[in-house]
Amino acid sequence: MNAASLRCEGVSVRFGALTAVDDVTLDFSGEGIQSVIGPNGAGKTTFLNVLSGRQRPTQGRVLRGERDITGTSAHQRAREGIGRSFQITQVFGGMTVFENLRLARQAAAFRLQPFWRPVESYEALAERAEAVMEEIGLTRLRDQPAEQLSHGDQRALELGITLMTDPAILLLDEPLAGVGEQEIEQTMSVITRASRGRTVLLIEHNIGLVMRVSRRVVVLHQGAVLAAGTPEEIRSNQAVREAYLGGEYDAGP
Ligand SMILES: Nc1ncnc2c1ncn2[C@@H]1O[C@H](COP(=O)(O)OP(=O)(O)O)[C@@H](O)[C@H]1O
Ligand SMILES: [Mg+2]
Repeated sequence: MNAASLRCEGVSVRFGALTAVDDVTLDFSGEGIQSVIGPNGAGKTTFLNVLSGRQRPTQGRVLRGERDITGTSAHQRAREGIGRSFQITQVFGGMTVFENLRLARQAAAFRLQPFWRPVESYEALAERAEAVMEEIGLTRLRDQPAEQLSHGDQRALELGITLMTDPAILLLDEPLAGVGEQEIEQTMSVITRASRGRTVLLIEHNIGLVMRVSRRVVVLHQGAVLAAGTPEEIRSNQAVREAYLGGEYDAGP
């Protein structure tokens, strides 16, 4: 089984009369960043929730490799290497960057198995925390309380907390939200680095950025896939330009 194989078949989510996700079939297998774009209310978050296990689809299947995981919980999926970035509420503000990382793996293990006993030594956890800290570029802030970090650095720490469990697949819903203009490049480079050897699914409304970092872009429109392809293919897709990119987006040279 491909370690980073994740796909869905015929996924729909209905909330009463509203179809938030409409018969979506996509394969996200393989390394690198793939992005989901679309206007507000297009169903992006709901779709990501179906992949992460937070939202049960009304119809369709989610597959990890050949295994049908449609009915499994978010915690079970985390154990199978499907990580999603946690919001800031998962970060302990009074604790340092290092302590947040060190405890992340224990906290995840405890959620999975409350009668958990430590299998990893303090040293092993500390070593892993140091490695992740390096990866997310926060070594310089090792002993800073998390609440004192800039938005961009907090986002990097959230990502680091997810990386502590070493997921093969990362699901990121607008990870740049709240990050200041001057920090966007830095935060994005942390995500790009984390995408090496991993499958990353990114929801992001900054189209210019999406086009630059993604190997594939999926456009959702009213819950359905309007188009999927390379950034070049999406830029030149007539249906996408009419329905979504329109005048808002300058396709560039
Ligand atoms: N739990 C819910 N109950 C009812 N309607 C919902 C729920 N979650 C999302 N929706 C609706 O589903 C549609 C898609 O929402 P969402 O997935 O958040 O879109 P996006 O992330 O693309 O902005 C919207 O019309 C939204 O109002
Ligand atoms: Mg959303």
